[in-house]
Amino acid sequence: MTPDEGKNVLGKNILEVEGLVQYFDQTKPFLERLLTRAPKRRVHAVNRIAFNIREGEVFSLVGESGCGKSTTARAIVRLLKPQEGRIVFEGQDIARLDQRQLLPIRPRMQMIFQNPYASLDPRQKVGEMIMEPLLFHKLAADRKEARRRMLDLMETIGLHPEQADRYPHQFSGGQRQRLGIARALATYPRLVVADEPVSALDVSVQAQILNLMMDLRQRLGLTCLFIAHDLSVVRHISDRVAIMYLGFIVEQGCRDDIFDSPLHPYTEALLASAPSLEKRSIHVPLSGDVPSPLDLPAGCAFASRCPRKITRCAEERPQLREFGGRQVACHLV
Ligand SMILES: Nc1ncnc2c1ncn2[C@@H]1O[C@H](COP(=O)(O)OP(=O)(O)O)[C@@H](O)[C@H]1O
Ligand code: SF4
Ligand SMILES: [Mg+2]
Repeated sequence: MTPDEGKNVLGKNILEVEGLVQYFDQTKPFLERLLTRAPKRRVHAVNRIAFNIREGEVFSLVGESGCGKSTTARAIVRLLKPQEGRIVFEGQDIARLDQRQLLPIRPRMQMIFQNPYASLDPRQKVGEMIMEPLLFHKLAADRKEARRRMLDLMETIGLHPEQADRYPHQFSGGQRQRLGIARALATYPRLVVADEPVSALDVSVQAQILNLMMDLRQRLGLTCLFIAHDLSVVRHISDRVAIMYLGFIVEQGCRDDIFDSPLHPYTEALLASAPSLEKRSIHVPLSGDVPSPLDLPAGCAFASRCPRKITRCAEERPQLREFGGRQVACHLV
């Protein structure tokens, strides 16, 4: 254990995201565009979002598929280069750093992926895979030390040390996700970004992995950005929750506020559709289409599906505003 492990106090901000914009340019080359008269195409995946994560906190980002959660995660760990905004990690803005400048940051931010199998090399023994980042980032003096840390990690995630010499296909889905977690923890990260870590698993296994993450959070004082498409998954694990829709954060606040008294119509709808929650009095069935991220609406992003919309909603985009300790973007709040 490093001196930093074992702490679990909510402290200063580890991450501050401000005005983050990430789009994907799909515009055809100039000549082709001239000949085919194709318009410029930009997928607006993340639209000026802002949030912060405090030390020791689990902050969850929730929204339907395609709303920009993974893009946000990939921008934060700088697998993407955002077009605008600040990503202040441990006091340093990393939004514009190049690959060389990012090298010392990489081990301090780690990602856990949705599909554990795709993120493990089938030809590498799992023990070697956990040792690799330790050796690459020179966080272990030699192979012997790296092996000791790896065996420790195998135990931490609930696997037998003797399984270290096996290959990924010899493990079940849940065990593979445990290995993904071990690899993410190997470098003593200050922030773990978990992108739908249980979505690909059977329901019974989901609970085991969520329990493991809650346990690690207690024991290691993990700080985590946790991503899910379903609110019921994040209920027990989160301190604060942000709800995302079409690349915008529409509501964010502490877990109990969001779950007990959702204010944004989309949060209400998500809660009403969450499978394992007891029935709520407000039930807002979602119908209508999500607008295309290629052509963002001028007004509220949720207007095409909102059962409460008023005339103003189609004309003016609601800004995220403080409301009783949380933030909501809706003209009615
Ligand atoms: N590399 C890419 N190129 C073009 N569009 C992309 C790319 N990655 C994601 N998108 C688009 O950005 C939007 C957000 O995607 P994503 O962040 O994966 O959503 P989520 O993780 O919430 O399901 C979607 O419309 C998706 O099609
Ligand atoms: S701003 Fe209007 S359309 Fe958007 S969520 Fe609020 S009421 Fe619904
Ligand atoms: Mg995703």
